[in-house]
Amino acid sequence: APYRLRLLEEASSTNDLAREAALAGEPADLWIVARSQSGGRGRLGRPWRSPPGNFYGSLILRLEADLATASTLSLVAGLAVAETIHELSGGRLAPRLKWPNDVLIDGAKLAGILVEGAMDGQGCWLVIGIGVNLESAPADLPYPATSLRAAGLPALSPEAFLAVLDGCFRGRLRQWREGGFPALREAWLTAAMGIGQLVKIRQGEREREGRLADLAGDGAILVEFDGGAMEHFTAGEIVFQH
Ligand code: BTN
Repeated sequence: APYRLRLLEEASSTNDLAREAALAGEPADLWIVARSQSGGRGRLGRPWRSPPGNFYGSLILRLEADLATASTLSLVAGLAVAETIHELSGGRLAPRLKWPNDVLIDGAKLAGILVEGAMDGQGCWLVIGIGVNLESAPADLPYPATSLRAAGLPALSPEAFLAVLDGCFRGRLRQWREGGFPALREAWLTAAMGIGQLVKIRQGEREREGRLADLAGDGAILVEFDGGAMEHFTAGEIVFQH
């Protein structure tokens, strides 16, 4: 394989292992993948249940960029996951992206991404953590979730998934290094879910209703509120009205 892989039976959290490795000077481009996690973490401090059968992996990157710029790679990772699934399904599945980086099929969450990093000398290191429901999805989440198996795909190992994912992500990373996130904005928008729709945007306790208008070149989502006022959001959670 053209990438380095550390494959573990179990980890607490591959993101934690990758962060420790990055801090200890691990060179970039290492994937840490676990068949299961005992302390898998999601965004906003939520747990990510991680039984065997699904994909749990974290990629260490080193970038000559500030952290805000590098963080747009979380959107790029979502795009790469959607493209991986499109390819693995022979074009049958076209997952959608829910800002910032959830990957959904028919409105149900299939994959989540948790990017963490820190400044480091000239640039920063980044850990791109990706969880994909290959075989199973929790049934008791506050939102609908699905798996590739439920979507009708044949069984797939985490290693087989990674081989395609790494190729998709590297291709997009090359474009990102050359043109920044603006070079990928159109591709992201094409796969995006709910542009033009009424949504709620939640930030901590605060929830406001508006129209999902656009994605900015810096990866922020643009929401239009009553009276036409447009606001940039770099953090928060979108809730679709159904
Ligand atoms: C989310 O949607 O809330 C993000 C979920 C991210 C889960 C992945 S699984 C591999 C990596 N290790 C973790 O502990 N979390 C990420």
